[in-house]
Amino acid sequence: MTNAVIECILSRSAAKYYDPAAGLSDDQIRELVRIGTSAPTSFHLQNWRFIAVRTPEAKARLSPIAWNQPAIMDAAVTFVIVGQLADASVIPDRLAPLVAAGVMPASMVPEWEMPARDLYKNFPQRQRDEAMRTGTFGAAAIIYAARSMGLGSTPMIGFDAEGVHREYGLAENEMPVMLLAVGLERSGNWAQKPRRPVNDVLSFL
Ligand SMILES: Cc1cc2nc3c(=O)[nH]c(=O)nc-3n(C[C@H](O)[C@H](O)[C@H](O)COP(=O)(O)O)c2cc1C
Repeated sequence: MTNAVIECILSRSAAKYYDPAAGLSDDQIRELVRIGTSAPTSFHLQNWRFIAVRTPEAKARLSPIAWNQPAIMDAAVTFVIVGQLADASVIPDRLAPLVAAGVMPASMVPEWEMPARDLYKNFPQRQRDEAMRTGTFGAAAIIYAARSMGLGSTPMIGFDAEGVHREYGLAENEMPVMLLAVGLERSGNWAQKPRRPVNDVLSFL
């Protein structure tokens, strides 16, 4: 079975080398993030934010705290994907547009807020796990949207988390989930890497 979406997923690989002359407009960057924010989040928390590092000056500041990876300077943009600790107190705000749009009755808001409070309030590891899941889902959506537009991408954990936290003034409840470079690839990138066999990673019950 194949279709355009499956083809997009299957044809992606992580890029290392980008065409440094190929930029993206702020509108194109905005569109990538808009698509990214369509990803699912727990209780619709949307506990993320995205910092688009796209000017030569901004890239030069990021590069040394990101292991001088070539993608930072050469890709059109590198997103700092920021996750926020899961916090149920934001839920009324986050759900208000759903209530206004008639998607959810107002009476249901506490039915989401209360279990979310029980799930996260006294569980800092879970709050942090959720920040990572949220940021990762958002990044994944951007990765495949970029691929569908003919752009390469590089998710990166090779950076100094404390340095990034400091450089971008992240709040105490925020953490850099990953860096994600996006741009037009140049030649020289690796071919796709074979995967472990499905039988090694899948069990049926
Ligand atoms: C969470 C995460 C962190 C990564 N960090 C880096 C990185 O810092 N630098 C880099 O060049 N590639 C990085 N990669 C890319 C991986 O090396 C790559 O996805 C993996 O080798 C599989 O190759 P493929 O994405 O081309 O299929 C990272 C990927 C993920 C998912």
